Amino acid sequence: MTSFMHAEALRTAWYPVAELTTVTDAPVAVRLLGESIVLWRATDGAIVAAPDQCPHRQAPLSIGTVADGELTCVYHGWRFGDGGRCTAVPSSGSDAAIPPAAHLKQLAVQERYGLVWVCPGEPAFAIPTIAPDTDPAFRRINTPVEPWTTSAPRLVDNFMDFSHFPWVHTGTFGAGQDPFVPKLDLEQLDDDFFGYRYEVEANNPDEAVAVSGSEEETVHRWMTTGFALPFLVRSTIRYADGLEHILLLCCTPTDDLNSLFTFVVWRNDDHTVDPAEIIAFDLAIGAEDKAMLERVPGTLPLSRTGVANVQSDKPSVEWRRRFAALIGADQ
Ligand code: FES
Ligand SMILES: [Fe+2]
Repeated sequence: MTSFMHAEALRTAWYPVAELTTVTDAPVAVRLLGESIVLWRATDGAIVAAPDQCPHRQAPLSIGTVADGELTCVYHGWRFGDGGRCTAVPSSGSDAAIPPAAHLKQLAVQERYGLVWVCPGEPAFAIPTIAPDTDPAFRRINTPVEPWTTSAPRLVDNFMDFSHFPWVHTGTFGAGQDPFVPKLDLEQLDDDFFGYRYEVEANNPDEAVAVSGSEEETVHRWMTTGFALPFLVRSTIRYADGLEHILLLCCTPTDDLNSLFTFVVWRNDDHTVDPAEIIAFDLAIGAEDKAMLERVPGTLPLSRTGVANVQSDKPSVEWRRRFAALIGADQ
């Protein structure tokens, strides 16, 4: 197995760990790169992200309670407020000074695209810009952050690959698709994403009509698929009538073998179709990927010769090469 989760470089990137709507009046526990983290929304309205361990006797803070933006530890009632600062130690009374070690070590946190993003170390990456997020012609639809029993490298490898479409996506858009993959040229798609452009004749079953806006049996799609290191993939789909459907596929490593997965959709449709109907088809596609990936044991070998590669693997091989270089893995 190729362990990656302790690589220093990965601590400098941003990872979506929760949907914003799930961080309300209770602590939220998440795992990221093998570490437990607690999130809550403090009095000043900002989300606090900190190691999920009380500085006093190491009880998980996430089993505590939040009231008025302050988190109370269940073990001895210490309270933590804005920025993770300890505000009360009940056993010492209100006059005693709070020791510096009582404050939480806050992690870098950002709210973007309806998600809570955490960087466990000193941020060296930026969260990629999705321009449609500020374009009123587009609306954004979020989906749940789900645990997937597969490694983040396998997720990215899968999302960069389209030779699996006619094999894995037989229940959605892939049935009857030509398994032949033409030669792909890789390019820098924009400031953030590197990948390829392609066109495909996609199956357009009844369940896909809300997404494609077409009732034809098949629809022509102009697509781009690209990655932003370490674990983000963006797939854009454009239809003949100018409709665009953009997916940000977010793969967050909870550890070497497990991930959190969520995707965000942006669309320039007329905003009338129920969001639930829009994402139902993408969720069904995701379920097909999940069912496949969860049956593949271990994480993806990062060495050049660890797996056999063919022409259609060029995009995922390029991601793997850059990822291995980023974390200093032998190639
Ligand atoms: S362990 Fe949290 S207050 Fe003691
Ligand atoms: Fe897939």
